[in-house]
Amino acid sequence: MIDSFGRNIDYLRISLCDRCNMRCLYCMKEEGITKFRHEDILPFEKIEMIVKALAKLGIKKVRLTGGEPLLRSDVEKLCVMLKKIEGIKELCLTTNGYLLKDKAKTLKEAGVDRINISLDSLDKDKYFKITRGADLETVLDAIKEAKKYFKIKINTVLLKGFNDGEIDDFIAFAKDNQVDVRFIELMPIGVARDFKDCLLDPQKVLDQNSLLEKTELIEGVAKIYKIKDSSAKIGAISALSHSFCEKCDRLRLTSDGYLKTCLFAKKEFDLKGLRENELESALKKIISLKPASKNSDEVTKRDMNEIGG
Ligand code: GTP
Ligand code: 5AD
Ligand code: SF4
Repeated sequence: MIDSFGRNIDYLRISLCDRCNMRCLYCMKEEGITKFRHEDILPFEKIEMIVKALAKLGIKKVRLTGGEPLLRSDVEKLCVMLKKIEGIKELCLTTNGYLLKDKAKTLKEAGVDRINISLDSLDKDKYFKITRGADLETVLDAIKEAKKYFKIKINTVLLKGFNDGEIDDFIAFAKDNQVDVRFIELMPIGVARDFKDCLLDPQKVLDQNSLLEKTELIEGVAKIYKIKDSSAKIGAISALSHSFCEKCDRLRLTSDGYLKTCLFAKKEFDLKGLRENELESALKKIISLKPASKNSDEVTKRDMNEIGG
């Protein structure tokens, strides 16, 4: 569906749960309170019903996120349900990778097409610190296994004074493992608002890197750089410094059943109570209200683990 500003809305991100088995410093509080009660979380049948209605309106790509989406039990069952929906061409998943090693094969069999994995450091101690306790080797093993079945992209939130000294290591990692790596600018949402001193524009940093060549390519929200002597790519997602609102093609569904037309916006739309025959017209109306760009005066109070990036 074309929205009020001429953008073709064809991408839905679904957060499957606000729970996570990590506690990344910029994403969740240490206590990691999960706000949603079991009965608040959308059941698979309701998600399927919403995606069916959205597919009729032009959604072609679905990405499952969290919190950590692999914590949702029987996630493969949902994948099968979503992949069957007419019009859904691509089913993707963004995960921290902790549970991925054992699930990679079954996710492939359930119809997942692509997987993006979050990895903020290649140094064991730093990784332990940023995730508040996770083990780097577990995720590296999962990446190895998942590569057998999927094209993998690594997401690295670039943080000044923490991992900005590791960029060349990540480039080497991309080259050695034939995976793409995207550096993400931290978005000041939820607890990340306390990390303003760490803000760094990945585009600015990568422009200066002698191992990379600039390209004119844009993939989704990422500006693409080529690694000299390799086909693996490096991306910069500079959501703050170079806003991509003008081309924003996505909607977000929270695990407690709210549709967000902008990641940053406070305004969201409760879909839980809607019946099947009411959905399509309600969704049309909601999409027509997608704002032209983010409004800094009306920022969401949700933490990122509830929205799913
Ligand atoms: P591809 O389908 O591989 O292009 O993935 P993706 O970039 O759409 O999804 P992924 O979950 O890997 O997103 C990477 C990160 O980019 C997210 O966690 C966010 O931090 C950021 N991001 C993705 N979409 C948006 C967006 O619409 N706005 C902003 N500001 N950031 C976004
Ligand atoms: N800004 C940018 N990216 C974030 N992520 C979590 N919180 C933020 C934030 N405040 C990233 C994770 C993961 C993806 C789903 O979202 O690191 O790569
Ligand atoms: Fe979990 Fe991802 Fe948030 Fe880290 S960034 S705590 S892995 S949801």
